[in-house]
Amino acid sequence: MRTFTNVQDLGDLKEAVRDALEIKKDRFSLKHLGENKTVMLVFFNSSLRTRLSSQKAAMNLGMNTIILDINQSAWKLETERGVVMDGDKSEHLLEAIPVIGCYCDIIGLRSFARFENKGDDYSEIILNQFIVNSGRPVFSMESAIVHPLQAFADLITIEEFKPKPRPKVVMTWAPHPLVLPQAVPNSFADFMNEADVDFVITHPEGYELDTQFVRDANIEYNQEKAFENADFIYAKNWSPFRDENYGRVINIDRSWTVNTRKMSLTNDAYFMHCLPVRRNMIVTDDVIEGPRSIVIQEAANREISCQVVLKRMLKSL
Ligand code: CP
Repeated sequence: MRTFTNVQDLGDLKEAVRDALEIKKDRFSLKHLGENKTVMLVFFNSSLRTRLSSQKAAMNLGMNTIILDINQSAWKLETERGVVMDGDKSEHLLEAIPVIGCYCDIIGLRSFARFENKGDDYSEIILNQFIVNSGRPVFSMESAIVHPLQAFADLITIEEFKPKPRPKVVMTWAPHPLVLPQAVPNSFADFMNEADVDFVITHPEGYELDTQFVRDANIEYNQEKAFENADFIYAKNWSPFRDENYGRVINIDRSWTVNTRKMSLTNDAYFMHCLPVRRNMIVTDDVIEGPRSIVIQEAANREISCQVVLKRMLKSL
């Protein structure tokens, strides 16, 4: 595996989930595979889960890890080609990337959407520069429009908890005060469309996601109707994808917050969220603290999803 940005990069998805569940039984079985190999985790944005789980996955495989917080410990980087660099940016990304590649064998990259230019975000301009110019396998640790490590962990969690062979999985929009990217819902849809689940997306009008990710998923604008008979409720905020409202918050309607009454409409569904979560905006305290909340198990599976990816990248070196 040379890149990990989408569900197709995993090949046979059932096989990838089996691989993950085997790793979970004994996560140290390949502790020599990564000996003398280094993964560089490059962060343009903050992280708790991705940073820790990726480092732990690398340790399980015997790898060395270098973490680079670009904005705190590197030169201020220019990312646009053709710019006269007479301002405060000291280094160009086009030199920085191959230099980073000199010191490692695999690169993980976190680089959120910047909401300055939708075309730049949706062409994954930073991620693709790393893929093209680093000379190393590259995996997204949440880039502008995708978060595949999260979606793979979500699928592993659904496989572990599903009450029937083909569960109903509902991804619901929920309110948030800030402009959040579409990366998590995009990748969740990407994975659910390939998984053996009945997949429904519910959101207010104006929050339609990119059709390249939504594909044939059922869209239901009535959240309560969508929740009926659901086995999993996956809550997430995202900002509008449509051009006219890209990079804006147009709705903070708390009637979309997931609460106990709405969960009672489901088939005793499990509650999922990628975290971090804004309590009593996205979900009420009692739901996230309740017995059907599996957000911590979901976060724990981030170590496993990353370990599958690192294992496959190590084998491709
Ligand atoms: N879910 C997730 O990616 O969490 P972090 O942003 O803390 O890494």
